Amino acid sequence: SPVVIAIDGPSGSGKSSVSKAVAARLGLAYLDTGAMYRAATVWSMETADLADAAAVTAAVGVMPLVMGLDPEAPGVELDGRDVAEVIRTTEVTTNVSKVASNLDVRAELKRLQRAIIDQESGPAAVQSGGRGIVAEGRDITTVVAPDADVRVLLIASEEARLRRRSLEVHGAADASAVEATKDQVLRRDQDDAKVTQFLVAADGVVTVDSSDLDFEQTVDAVLAVVAQ
Ligand code: CDP
Repeated sequence: SPVVIAIDGPSGSGKSSVSKAVAARLGLAYLDTGAMYRAATVWSMETADLADAAAVTAAVGVMPLVMGLDPEAPGVELDGRDVAEVIRTTEVTTNVSKVASNLDVRAELKRLQRAIIDQESGPAAVQSGGRGIVAEGRDITTVVAPDADVRVLLIASEEARLRRRSLEVHGAADASAVEATKDQVLRRDQDDAKVTQFLVAADGVVTVDSSDLDFEQTVDAVLAVVAQ
């Protein structure tokens, strides 16, 4: 029967690329819940005042979001518009924790995320031969899918996380590039940790530390947890 794999982790832990590879390897759908918070941020910036929590909640409640679940080409569409690149801009990254700290926004996105997970693992998936889904984020193992078949917290040392994020954002990991990334990453982790648990594994969640693993080794480590 279809499997649900939940993966959480902080920024720069490698959870997005690892989750995609695990889903592709196992023939599963893939859900990037961080992309949903980022899309909600774009939509709120466009249609509401970010400082007005009620307006942001209302905006997210009518957000025309479509998530593509193919791990080889996961899409994010807002009102038919491809926003895969816009959601990664510095401006959106700077604002996303504020939107994600809105508990009504979280409740709405949790509802959407559960519906997608159910569509890929419930009776409809059984009917259509679906094999399940990998869902990744900050609160998947604890809140969105606490009863997932496999739950993994992917962590890495601060040094490793800053190096990876610096490479992603600046294309370099020299001292000055790492320094430029540092404040933003650490502040976002701090803000996120107030509303989600991704720094310490919850009961029953398996921790995988990727600090000293390369990409393939990390994928193998997660696949080993899945095979247990
Ligand atoms: O790019 P990075 O991996 O650092 O983050 P992301 O997975 O794209 O998530 C972006 C932001 O969405 C996080 O910083 C959180 O504020 C929020 N988020 C959340 O609150 N809960 C989730 N399940 C996933 C993301």
